[in-house]
Amino acid sequence: MRSTRACWSPGSEDGSIVHIVGVGGSVRAGSSTEQLVGTVLAAVEERSGARTRLFGGPELAEFTPYDPRAPLAPGAKAFVEAVREADAVVIGSPAYHGSVSGLVKNALDHLEELRDDVRPYLDGRPVGLVTTAHGWQAAVNTLTALRGITHSLRGWPTPLGIAANVAVSGPEHFASPPLHNRVIELGRQLTAFPGGRSIEVSR
Ligand SMILES: Cc1cc2nc3c(=O)[nH]c(=O)nc-3n(C[C@H](O)[C@H](O)[C@H](O)COP(=O)(O)O)c2cc1C
Repeated sequence: MRSTRACWSPGSEDGSIVHIVGVGGSVRAGSSTEQLVGTVLAAVEERSGARTRLFGGPELAEFTPYDPRAPLAPGAKAFVEAVREADAVVIGSPAYHGSVSGLVKNALDHLEELRDDVRPYLDGRPVGLVTTAHGWQAAVNTLTALRGITHSLRGWPTPLGIAANVAVSGPEHFASPPLHNRVIELGRQLTAFPGGRSIEVSR
């Protein structure tokens, strides 16, 4: 059954961003994409006190291909419910043949379950986007694809997205400058969204 909620206001009663859901990775636990999404969540959690939840690659691999007629697998149900309650979302995908991976796209397909909500899909919420690839072209192209998907889901991509070329800066660079400065800025933009509370930018 689809859930409809009588009213919704973003975040807590003071309108702050309190619950952020991250989604992304590849089937390999601790994949670079999953680590990048996790780095963004950790930065926001540390600076704003928001609660975060990460749905990484191995969890997404438990989802069956999305079928609007079929009941959801438990993991997919938990994902849909978490996004339903989220004040902000972070999406990460590796570039597979120049675009979003099937694993991540299948997870996003499940957000069709939110179609009939009072706040449909990602409506009204800021969405941070990150990608990884073995080259700049695919990383940037995948970021553009995620922006298009986010718009389709009625979400608000933050002005800054992060395209990481892991051939030149792999996960060992995610927590150090200059990449980490961009992670912090993306987190600031997520929480500075109208209704959100801006995180501190001191490093
Ligand atoms: C099926 C497949 C297709 C890929 N296609 C591309 C591509 O078109 N361009 C590119 O730069 N890297 C490509 N890659 C490399 C991945 O984007 C890169 O290794 C990415 O960081 C993997 O993320 P992960 O560590 O989260 O698995 C591909 C990898 C796989 C497995």
